[in-house]
Amino acid sequence: MRVLVIGKGGREHALVWKIFQSERVDKIYAAPGNDGMAHLAERVAINYRDIERLADWAEENRIDLTLVGPEEPLVAGIVDLFNERGLKIFGPNKKAARIEGSKVFAKSILKKYRIPTAEYEVFMDPEEALEYLDEAHYPLVIKAEGLARGKGVVIATRKKEAFAAVDKIMDDRIFGSAGQRIVIEDFLAGREVSIIALTDGKHIIPLPPAQDHKPVFDGDEGPNTGGMGSYSPVSFISGDMEKRICEEIMKPAIRAFQEEGIDYKGIIYTGLIVTDMGPKVLDFNPRFGDPETQVILPRLQNDLIEVIEKVMEGRMEDLVLEWDKRTAVCVILASGGYPIAFDTGMEINGLEELKKHDNVLVFHAGTRRDGDKYLTDNGRVLGITVLGDGLFDSLNQVYQCVDMVNFNDMHYRSDIGFQAVEE
Ligand code: GLY
Repeated sequence: MRVLVIGKGGREHALVWKIFQSERVDKIYAAPGNDGMAHLAERVAINYRDIERLADWAEENRIDLTLVGPEEPLVAGIVDLFNERGLKIFGPNKKAARIEGSKVFAKSILKKYRIPTAEYEVFMDPEEALEYLDEAHYPLVIKAEGLARGKGVVIATRKKEAFAAVDKIMDDRIFGSAGQRIVIEDFLAGREVSIIALTDGKHIIPLPPAQDHKPVFDGDEGPNTGGMGSYSPVSFISGDMEKRICEEIMKPAIRAFQEEGIDYKGIIYTGLIVTDMGPKVLDFNPRFGDPETQVILPRLQNDLIEVIEKVMEGRMEDLVLEWDKRTAVCVILASGGYPIAFDTGMEINGLEELKKHDNVLVFHAGTRRDGDKYLTDNGRVLGITVLGDGLFDSLNQVYQCVDMVNFNDMHYRSDIGFQAVEE
């Protein structure tokens, strides 16, 4: 089987790494992929947003199955396009991908079907938003309606921060047309968790919970990033809480999509917060999480391609997922200054040493090869995942690994897993 993976980050490296282990796969391509995964997948020089060219290429190269990492091609309708051309692709179609493409749409579904989430208001006019914010109680959460690469959410503790967020999103349009409308919602206190699930539109199988750490600095300080680290499983999500999340949130969401005439197939990622009043939805995404995938897939013992085929063929009743009992932790090494301004082209040292350890995986996100060296090439550079015996052991080991790697201006969070450690 010939498989194409679309995307170029750490999540896609983890997907390629897992697919490489499948006996059913002869050849993997990554469009555009990155240099760190080039020994596993042949790179194809097509931008992941160029869905027409991707479809042409997949047809010409007789691709048997395509997997999509990032949200942009899903929201642009890559699944519909591939299906029209008779090409097999795993993921939600354009209508379904609106759950991430439009926060207003996602919130309206949650409200209509009484799925627990924060109260909210939508604004198209910045003046009206400012009037509302002038009278509001803080903290509040301000979200650009469209895609903003995980960076379009601001938690405003004071009026001044809220006004600045509205200016940046709606007037300066730092996220382009994604800032045409904003959602202002109540701040919910609690602990965040990501549940990524497989669905054929009727059945749902959640993968083990993972926790991401979005703010750039320790203690959840600083601006949101694409994700600075993750771990799985998550000790504060008990088996009972997992069941509750499935019954109160995930199954009702799938039923809501059916009622709305949305044929939802593939991945549904629910960002949740567990509050004193129970679990509530922060957001939905139609894709694997990054960096959650880097801690979930290393624990999956099944053949990922067989799993995906069963979901696509509506044979989910036959699907029993098996998990490595160890805890996986991923720490992202980023360029200093990310997510705002940073330099690239720094030589990365110490990666060879990490290859000696079977329980250590390096997933490249923004690197480029220069002869026999790797250089930094983006804000998030790479993630180090370690599988250990429980969270403490994994954390100890992962930070030992982090100490072995260096590049100029390297930044990472030193408190990944702190909410579970504080238990
Ligand atoms: N981990 C955040 C995301 O994938 O959206």
